Amino acid sequence: MLTVVVGGFFGDEGKGKVVSYLSIADGVAAGIRCGSVNAGHTVVHGGRVWKLRVVPSAFVRKEAKLLIPPGALIRTDVLLRELRETGVAGRLFIDPQAGVIEGKHVEAERASEHLKGKVGSTLQGVGAAASDRVLRRLRLARDFEELKGMLTDVPGEVHAALRAGLNVIIEGTQGTFLSLYHGTYPYVTSRDTTASAFASEVGVGPKDVDEVVVVFKAYVTRVGGGPLAGELPEDEVLRRGWVERATVTGRVRRAAPFNIELARRAVMINSATQVAITKVDTLFPEASGVREWGKLPKEAREWVERIEDALNTPITLIGTGPEAESIIDRRRELGFLK
Ligand code: GTP
Ligand code: MG
Repeated sequence: MLTVVVGGFFGDEGKGKVVSYLSIADGVAAGIRCGSVNAGHTVVHGGRVWKLRVVPSAFVRKEAKLLIPPGALIRTDVLLRELRETGVAGRLFIDPQAGVIEGKHVEAERASEHLKGKVGSTLQGVGAAASDRVLRRLRLARDFEELKGMLTDVPGEVHAALRAGLNVIIEGTQGTFLSLYHGTYPYVTSRDTTASAFASEVGVGPKDVDEVVVVFKAYVTRVGGGPLAGELPEDEVLRRGWVERATVTGRVRRAAPFNIELARRAVMINSATQVAITKVDTLFPEASGVREWGKLPKEAREWVERIEDALNTPITLIGTGPEAESIIDRRRELGFLK
């Protein structure tokens, strides 16, 4: 079974948490991390916290192969640091065609008033490297001696696992409305961030994908510039306990209440088969740590059901805390698992 996990708003919906949970629950054979170092995924497991920019969140499943696909852009320094932090050297592999961001890309972005000011870019060199790739002058993983021992044919690995009937998870980054094509251009990231784009990054066709899980947070956050409907003033964000800091840049995230119109559009654009909603415990503190639907406070259940009706898509996963295990998994009762 191939599952693609994508963000439904502006990123930071908690894909890291959802992917780490699913990797363990579904015993995945491989986890593929798409995108680049401008997205930080938080994984909380076994009493530890990781903020990952290259290593797939599926690393928490010890038996999983960890793959970086041809469409990803990595940085070797970040990769080597995260390999040390997570201890996954030996089971992480990179496609020879994955792109590599170099110092000059970071410098080019730091010198850009457009990116720094108007767009509010994370200035990690991702856009500059992507543009070099389009111009066919970016150096790829195969060009770097220090990556030699880690190279593998990622599409080949993924298709072999699927043929063998194993579970594979593709971890998208950022969110639907940061997509270069479908987002709030020009306040977007330098790639398409929808489910089809991540399938393409990996090298699987639309017909290979079994489940598309679109992840929403219980409220909407956004870093950097661009429109955010219903944006709350800072003191109100604080009062509601919604203050978050960006994983990569440390900037305070702007916040607004859950947006059903945006959510509907994200479900449509990604062809979602399932929806995950994280941080339900921030709206309903009594939901904290709950793992069974029946034990969720009534107001929380009604809130989830209202959204489920409006989206016309099953809400199968409900986040009730930062830890990978703090989740209500309704897939079995909703007929998604045998
Ligand atoms: P991007 O690819 O950068 O968009 O990141 P992401 O979707 O992986 O999200 P990120 O980890 O950056 O931010 C989500 C934040 O919410 C992290 O601090 C998580 O630990 C936290 N989080 C995720 N799910 C839950 C949840 O159900 N409850 C609570 N309380 N926190 C959660
Ligand atoms: Mg993030």
